[in-house]
Amino acid sequence: MSKRVVFITGASSGMGYAATKLFAGHGWKVYAGARRVEKIPTGAGIHPMRLDVTDADSREQFVEASLADGLRVDVLLNNAGYGEFGPLEEVGVDKVHKQLDTNLVGASELTKLVLPQMRQQGTGRIINNSSIGGDIYSPLGGWYYVTKRGLNVWSDVLDTEIRQFGLRSVIIEPGGTQSAWTDIAVDNALHNLTPNSPYTALVEGTRKLLNGMLTNSEATSEDLAKVFYRAATDRHPKRRYYFSLTDRMVSRFARNHPGVFHEGISLIVHRLTRNK
Ligand SMILES: NC(=O)c1ccc[n+]([C@@H]2O[C@H](COP(=O)([O-])OP(=O)(O)OC[C@H]3O[C@@H](n4cnc5c(N)ncnc54)[C@H](OP(=O)(O)O)[C@@H]3O)[C@@H](O)[C@H]2O)c1
Repeated sequence: MSKRVVFITGASSGMGYAATKLFAGHGWKVYAGARRVEKIPTGAGIHPMRLDVTDADSREQFVEASLADGLRVDVLLNNAGYGEFGPLEEVGVDKVHKQLDTNLVGASELTKLVLPQMRQQGTGRIINNSSIGGDIYSPLGGWYYVTKRGLNVWSDVLDTEIRQFGLRSVIIEPGGTQSAWTDIAVDNALHNLTPNSPYTALVEGTRKLLNGMLTNSEATSEDLAKVFYRAATDRHPKRRYYFSLTDRMVSRFARNHPGVFHEGISLIVHRLTRNK
């Protein structure tokens, strides 16, 4: 049997980096993309490629490289993403577009490029790395949560459209996981503040909340790579994958009791903000 082929976006850091190594280690051919191509792992079976998921030409080059080799495409792992944190009143519209383009539109446009090949094969899987932030929200993460909730809906609808061809679209919902993500989100929150912003103190509460989620979870990027691998290889894939029971329960509770859950989170952040 020929090697299985996976496309991984956001392969220069965190979960995408770990997934690139894991899939290659299992003998897959990995097309691994990121803007910082020099940070993508190298080794047998790995094809590092420069990719900006917000750029149409870059997306096409990424996918065409393997299709030109006449290869099949077994899995597209839409993993690239970041948190454009900041107060909704103050995040500039350019940043809003960049957030939507990276986390949501980039994934959907890349998917369009691989679906014809997958349909021809009669097999294939789109794995979308969302977040428990697709179900929960907290202050300053508004546009990030919009993209992750949007990704969940988009993936679920896609799944209803492509199952007839033997294809699937599934969602991974990580909770706090060791990677560069939290520092980038907090940095963005600071940079998005206007001078003398009334929201400045809230950044500190948010930083404490996000760091607290990391400390409580202890999930590593390597742990999440294993979840991606399960989603890629399960005979009967699920619509949702979680790393831990806690992540699953938190998401479920937030979905079933959105009012009480989110009022609680908001209270915690404001309390963390006051207790310097
Ligand atoms: N860590 C967490 O706690 C957590 C929790 C839930 C969900 N997530 C989600 O998990 C995914 C992976 O994040 P991570 O935790 O591994 O964070 P990370 O270490 O910051 O990695 C993010 C990756 O996304 C890539 N990326 C960002 N913008 C891109 C663009 N325009 N084009 C191509 N690649 C781009 C980055 O590569 P370049 O900068 O080199 O392009 C990097 O490889 C994200 O979608 C994130 O939202 C993370």
